[in-house]
Amino acid sequence: MDFPFHTVIQSEAETILNAQDFGKQIKKGDVILLNGDLGSGKTFFVKYVCKEFGIENVSSPSFTIVNEYHNKVDFIHFDFYRIKKVEELYDIGFHEYLSGENIIFIEWSNMFPEILPKRNYQIDLKFVNNTSREISIVKHE
Ligand SMILES: Nc1ncnc2c1ncn2[C@@H]1O[C@H](COP(=O)(O)OP(=O)(O)OP(=O)(O)O)[C@@H](O)[C@H]1O
Ligand SMILES: [Mg+2]
Repeated sequence: MDFPFHTVIQSEAETILNAQDFGKQIKKGDVILLNGDLGSGKTFFVKYVCKEFGIENVSSPSFTIVNEYHNKVDFIHFDFYRIKKVEELYDIGFHEYLSGENIIFIEWSNMFPEILPKRNYQIDLKFVNNTSREISIVKHE
């Protein structure tokens, strides 16, 4: 996979292939921002990236705000959707998670752009129809 990456996906199976491919590029310390409407496939994508690293039980962090998975790599999976004020993120130790020891996913990262690290992968998903999605991935160095 080369960046910037952009394609129109026709099926879940195709999203899974892209997630697997993306998973091969990432390493400890990376931060991956995921934006796009409700149901566009942010959690779905994260689930299949994690699966590449032997993690099977990924679920949406929209109620918990953050989920952690520890295996070959430590994954931290945020969802900012229900956060009202940036202080809530400070309180749960957002910056400690950015120590460089983890791989971090953030759904709805665009709600708090001011706290995001400049070096990141930015994934944008667009709903096309039931099975089709437009995906773009930009690498910010
Ligand atoms: N090509 C596709 N890629 C990804 N998901 C797809 C695709 N086609 C259908 N889907 C379905 O779309 C839904 C995506 O839901 P998901 O929870 O990943 O969205 P989300 O972007 O995380 O939403 P939220 O903002 O609520 O967290 C799933 O039910 C999935 O099965
Ligand atoms: Mg989600």
